[in-house]
Amino acid sequence: MQRVMARPQATDPVGSRLRSYPALKTMQEIPDALCFLNGTFGPLRDAKVSVLDRGFLFGDGIYEVVPVYGRRLFRFDEHLARLSRNLAKVRVLNPFDRAHWLEHCRQLIAAQPAPDQLLYIQITRGVAMRDHVMLPDLTPTVFIMTNPMKPPSAQQREHGVACITASDFRWERGDIKSISLLGNVLARQLSADQGATETILFRDGLLTEASSSNVWLVHQGGVVGVPKSEQVLEGIRYELIRELCEALGIGYTLRPITKADVSDADELMLSSATKEVLPVTQVDGKAVGHGALRGKPGPVYARLYEAYQRAKERQSI
Ligand code: PDD
Repeated sequence: MQRVMARPQATDPVGSRLRSYPALKTMQEIPDALCFLNGTFGPLRDAKVSVLDRGFLFGDGIYEVVPVYGRRLFRFDEHLARLSRNLAKVRVLNPFDRAHWLEHCRQLIAAQPAPDQLLYIQITRGVAMRDHVMLPDLTPTVFIMTNPMKPPSAQQREHGVACITASDFRWERGDIKSISLLGNVLARQLSADQGATETILFRDGLLTEASSSNVWLVHQGGVVGVPKSEQVLEGIRYELIRELCEALGIGYTLRPITKADVSDADELMLSSATKEVLPVTQVDGKAVGHGALRGKPGPVYARLYEAYQRAKERQSI
């Protein structure tokens, strides 16, 4: 009689789930790029960190995302200043001075074929036996990689994007650019599940930010954002948008923003390293804006976007 072999999937549901994401395929899919890990440059594919790294065990680390245009870093000093502030907030010593950061970043940028890139820096507290207490004298783990930039599509710029809203259920230190992004990941997935681009978050009825962007509205011709606070990441575009508004003679105000303010906005925009400034034309299925411009990107967005493109030329090193 023929014996029927038990199929591993039937008896090992966890194993079969793991096998549906074959590690080898994933490894082959890792781009053939150079990265920096703890003082050494090597293939991204081969870079390895200990399972005892506190970044892996606790999400105990911070990160930065710097846009690179034509192989030049955009507003590098502002990103580095935020990195230093964040390291101080989580009590990790900055491992390099500006010259060394710049040198390491530029070496990776030069090795990447695409001229427009997104550079990622991550610093964790280091490797230690698991203990919530911050052990002294750990050597931070430093990782840098750069990938081709994936900017919003021409279609998204022309027609704007759809967003949904949700309550801000993340922790109360959104100002720290923490690698513990589970709250942001869960928030982002809510919009992804509905085919939308971002999840705009409200805490106690007031706008904070979106899952991976800051949010701006236009009211009576001026740009309005929420005040800087511990609940919001101060995006590098906060200061940039202020400067652009000043140069363009557009009003710029930071004040608490309610859900009603968002519903009534003339224009709505997202900003981030990847999105630059991006028009939002639909929120929770309802068109943004009024009159002929309802559901369309507005004139303030158009002027800011143009000015942003010029700033990229001038402010990249
Ligand atoms: N995200 N708020 C949150 C929660 C963010 O994650 C980001 C950026 C921003 C905008 O910050 P900036 O203008 O400095 O990019 C606001 C990055 C790009 C990311 O996590 O990939």
